[in-house]
Amino acid sequence: MNNLFQAERIDGKGFAANLVARLADEVSTIKAKTGLTPGLAVVLIGEDPASRVYVGAKHRQTQEVGMQSFVHKLPTETTQVELMALLDQLNADDAVNGILVQLPLPAHLDTNAVINAIDPAKDVDGFHILNAGRLATGQDALVPCTPLGCLMMLKERLGNLAGLKAVVVGKSNIVGKPMAQLLMGENCTVTVAHSKTQNVPELCRTADILVVAVGRPELVKGDWIKPGAVVIDVGINRVMRDGQSRLVGDVAFAEAGHAAAITPVPGGVGPMTIACLLANTMTAFRRQRNLQPTPAVAG
Ligand code: GUN
Repeated sequence: MNNLFQAERIDGKGFAANLVARLADEVSTIKAKTGLTPGLAVVLIGEDPASRVYVGAKHRQTQEVGMQSFVHKLPTETTQVELMALLDQLNADDAVNGILVQLPLPAHLDTNAVINAIDPAKDVDGFHILNAGRLATGQDALVPCTPLGCLMMLKERLGNLAGLKAVVVGKSNIVGKPMAQLLMGENCTVTVAHSKTQNVPELCRTADILVVAVGRPELVKGDWIKPGAVVIDVGINRVMRDGQSRLVGDVAFAEAGHAAAITPVPGGVGPMTIACLLANTMTAFRRQRNLQPTPAVAG
């Protein structure tokens, strides 16, 4: 990295810590006022090592904000019928305000059927078809956690996003598509690029806001970035560099010094995702109990 690197590093870690602290305050106020404790159930099927790490982090942080955490670890051989029975039980349980099934699922399970079996009011991932449809049509939805965190950081850095040109690289259901919907909701002019898009570098150079979520280490080079753009790097890729294992994003960070601001990897988008999961659990709890939203963390 040379000394011409002038881009502000967007501190996702600090932003997430702030959000989590506000949520912890809200949980203790709710407990004192109502005697109720918001609860999040996380379902993990199989032995995927990355998923086990993510679920462990979700469990720990849920407890740290004072919510109840219910983790259900099931074997790889779990059948669709068994998983549906567990979801029915969690849907009916008043102590469970949010439900998350960790993805990816083992191949014999039908992911869409599983997601759509979650009560949409408890779907804190925002993946249920009803929440996806509500987001697409500008109605109150539970919104997927990673793009929600990206939007919070963009609004904090830029204020009003209306009229800005946004390019989203990646069209996954988890990040790219909901990110594009959220940015349209803020009246940005949005283009989504993907693996079949022609001349992606030229398209990226038009972006005031560039969000990259493809899972390809350092795909986006410095000359793809317009001077003064705000860059959100969703990628977390483990690579070997000089004989050492390192995490890098989807953007070549060291080449992005002419951006106005960029999220680092690690410490950018990653920490915001679990913070937004907890914020969504609080949103779900409030809606289920007809409580007023707290403006600072309203989803
Ligand atoms: N696997 C990778 N990201 C996610 C996520 O945001 N939610 C769930 N449920 N699984 C994931």
